[in-house]
Amino acid sequence: MTETNQIIKKIQVSGIRRFDEAISDVPDIIKLTVGEPDLPTPEHVKKAGIRAIQQDFSHYSPLMGFQKLQVAASRYFNQKYQLTYAPSEIITTVGATEAVATALLTILNPGDGVLLPTPSYTSYAPVVAMAQATLIPIDTTHSGYKLTPADLAATIQAHANGHLKAIILNYPTNPTGVTYSKAELLALIAVIRQAGLLVISDEIYSEITYDQPHTALGTLYPEKTITINGLSKSHAMTGWRLGLIMAPQELINEMKKTHQYLVTSTSSISQVAGIEALTNGLDDGPQMRAIYQQRRDYLVTRLSEMGLNYVYPSGAFYLFVQVPTHFKGTSWDFATSLAQQAQLAVIPGSAFGPTGEGWFRISYAASQAALREGMNRLATWLTEFETA
Ligand SMILES: Cc1ncc(COP(=O)(O)O)c(C=O)c1O
Repeated sequence: MTETNQIIKKIQVSGIRRFDEAISDVPDIIKLTVGEPDLPTPEHVKKAGIRAIQQDFSHYSPLMGFQKLQVAASRYFNQKYQLTYAPSEIITTVGATEAVATALLTILNPGDGVLLPTPSYTSYAPVVAMAQATLIPIDTTHSGYKLTPADLAATIQAHANGHLKAIILNYPTNPTGVTYSKAELLALIAVIRQAGLLVISDEIYSEITYDQPHTALGTLYPEKTITINGLSKSHAMTGWRLGLIMAPQELINEMKKTHQYLVTSTSSISQVAGIEALTNGLDDGPQMRAIYQQRRDYLVTRLSEMGLNYVYPSGAFYLFVQVPTHFKGTSWDFATSLAQQAQLAVIPGSAFGPTGEGWFRISYAASQAALREGMNRLATWLTEFETA
């Protein structure tokens, strides 16, 4: 075989996708796996997309996206979270995925250190590796799956001689659903500021926050925060591929180049739909949030009745649940057995890194009927397992 890039060779397709594909052939399977809204894109947004096709939005947009979209995003995030990014400080990307990649590839030099609270979403570590930077995980399993200022300070101290460049934060968090209060963020920022780190703040689930208002990190540490957001989750638009990077102008000017040579620009049609979502869709997210919240409340009740240990989620649409201790095997074995024997698919915790082992993730971006049946199957299977 032709010799290909050594770094890419070591990277795998994410555990989420690999597991999902592995169990897709199980007949009558209920999938609570992939994190994408089951709800439809709002009607007014779809219509804007249709109009865009009819009006021949079939050409390139400017590199950073249509100016109207930059203006709409600037206003939207100001109204929602008091962020103050100027339109020129916003790049429209191919989903939050490209936003993360563009941000990391722009700021990192080979050998730079990047802090990451774990378990974490799957797309950060591979891009850090592509940039030949060093990922420094911080285990949050002993602190309620939240990064503490003390652990952060200790990790920074332990790497005082390295080239620490940045920290990646993601809240509400995939895979646990935990989030941070303003006071908790301020305490973390005090440590981060002291160390002079850049923050990549992935707030793609900002709209899906149940128990407290979402605090945007860019309001607390504007000078060094790169905010990642987008319409995938807030407006159920995963397939439209619309993400956003918001950051100080100097950083944006650099990121614009990376973005250009990766993708040129995102789909013009999607951008027109995005303008509609960000201009007239301020209530779309809260309406969906109310549905997810009902599902969360239902699931935590069911899981508690089964005696399962889980992380109480305050946002996103995930529940992180401990594999029952009497199950002998890895989380991958557990999820495989559950899929094959009970026709219920969940994601093994190890997909989110070594600190996710022993747990599994349920996505409740699925219909109430699927959740009810899924929980029935889980309960029956666990009972059969215990009595076997
Ligand atoms: C934390 C987090 N960031 C980014 C993404 C990617 O979002 P997008 O579909 O907009 O690329 C996801 C998707 O699940 C996610 O969970």
